[in-house]
Amino acid sequence: MISAPIENALNRQIETEARSSQFYLAMASWADTQGLSGVSKFLYRHSDEERQHMLKLIHYVNERGGKAIIPQLDKPPADFDSVQSVFKDLFEHEQNVTREINDVVDACLTEKDYTTHNFMQWYVSEQIEEEAMARNILDKLALIGNDKGGLYLFDRELGGLETHGEG
Ligand code: FEO
Repeated sequence: MISAPIENALNRQIETEARSSQFYLAMASWADTQGLSGVSKFLYRHSDEERQHMLKLIHYVNERGGKAIIPQLDKPPADFDSVQSVFKDLFEHEQNVTREINDVVDACLTEKDYTTHNFMQWYVSEQIEEEAMARNILDKLALIGNDKGGLYLFDRELGGLETHGEG
């Protein structure tokens, strides 16, 4: 059985993962309308993965005697300035997610909930990979700059790139 503070912390994390999924879905749809099919494919997939992260938490809360709360979400942006700004937003968003995951881990230690602490380690590892991936993509985009040919190749490459961390 999880304690009320842990239940609350996990429910906040459910909302964060749902928001991530929605945010990346908005990015994917925007990229779709810009002829960036590879980028959009990558982001649609990433959005699906965030939904899996959310579901994994929902199942865990309910299995441990808590009650998962399905959150209401704000409308994400419909427009983005550029591919660069999309991935800059994504990277910043993931850094915030990492901070929030760390808060949940902190709460587990305070509450001496080592079972949830153990469960959360999957998310801790996932954040390392997601931040590294976003940083890598931003480095590539910085090299490409305004080169249209480079962007074309980047789009193709991203369409075939495996995201990871399906929950
Ligand atoms: Fe669910 Fe992007 O971490």
